[in-house]
Amino acid sequence: MIVHNLVNPCVALGSQLSVSGHRNYPFVVRCNKHVSSKGDIASVSLQSPSVPITSDAVAVASDRKYGSKQVISLSPCLYDYILTNVREPEILRELREETSNMRGSQMQVSPDQAQLLAMLVEILGAKKCIELGVYTGYSSLAIALVLPEGGRLVACERDAKSLEVAKKYYELAGVSHKVDVRHGLAVGTLKSMIMNGESCSYDFAFVDAEKRMYHEYFELLLQLVRVGGLIVIDNVLWHGKVADPLVNDSKTISIRHFNQNIMEDQRVSISMVPIGDGMTICRKR
Ligand SMILES: C[S@@+](CC[C@H](N)C(=O)[O-])C[C@H]1O[C@@H](n2cnc3c(N)ncnc32)[C@H](O)[C@@H]1O
Repeated sequence: MIVHNLVNPCVALGSQLSVSGHRNYPFVVRCNKHVSSKGDIASVSLQSPSVPITSDAVAVASDRKYGSKQVISLSPCLYDYILTNVREPEILRELREETSNMRGSQMQVSPDQAQLLAMLVEILGAKKCIELGVYTGYSSLAIALVLPEGGRLVACERDAKSLEVAKKYYELAGVSHKVDVRHGLAVGTLKSMIMNGESCSYDFAFVDAEKRMYHEYFELLLQLVRVGGLIVIDNVLWHGKVADPLVNDSKTISIRHFNQNIMEDQRVSISMVPIGDGMTICRKR
């Protein structure tokens, strides 16, 4: 980004300029007077930011009783930096890039989220997992890749077309034998699993399907997951709308209620993590 932004300032040779690489990241550029034989600027040096580079990259709670503790607030620049520090398997990169041209690509979990999901599965030593909302398979593939050979992921999705992409990538990654694809509505699949006597046998569940169904998914998954197992719910911050009192559409209200209920639900330990669009990790007690 910095190099890109140096093109225009260089016309003002020898002067000091404030260049707005990003509104949160003003910096000062000094273009040295030396000019190469081609007439280009031979060297350009960055100097200390005119304001601290972290000035807008933090948030502080409005309640003064939390003190002046600063927590990180992601700018596009900082998010790009995080992405450069994600270890994304090659096959996931290919799937992400293919999906980026498809309708609904914004629904896919981010690489940093997928990495966290995979790590939770690894930490748990999970063998039996469930995912609600597969789309083209990014998060499910991330989970399947770290499951042991005998492990199984029940992958629930209602849309046949996006499932075709997911299945292609399970094949390419050599993990098809670990993924039990269930085409249909997630609630029906979960109920049939309970009817089949699979209660308390799952280690891990990831919820990323219909937002207004979160309560029902959670209750069913709480039956299917064992004590000590995890239920991870995506989109709990819902693009920030949950904290905006002026937004009251049905999905926002539903997620707000869900968050409130989880907060009070003593059957699980919880942690709301501001990653992606917000994920709550619940551990069944
Ligand atoms: C946010 S996307 C999932 C993204 C996916 N986890 C990923 O990382 O690529 C939500 C998916 O849930 C599916 N879905 C929505 N409602 C559903 C339901 N009631 N049952 C099953 N799938 C559903 C949608 O078709 C969509 O593909």
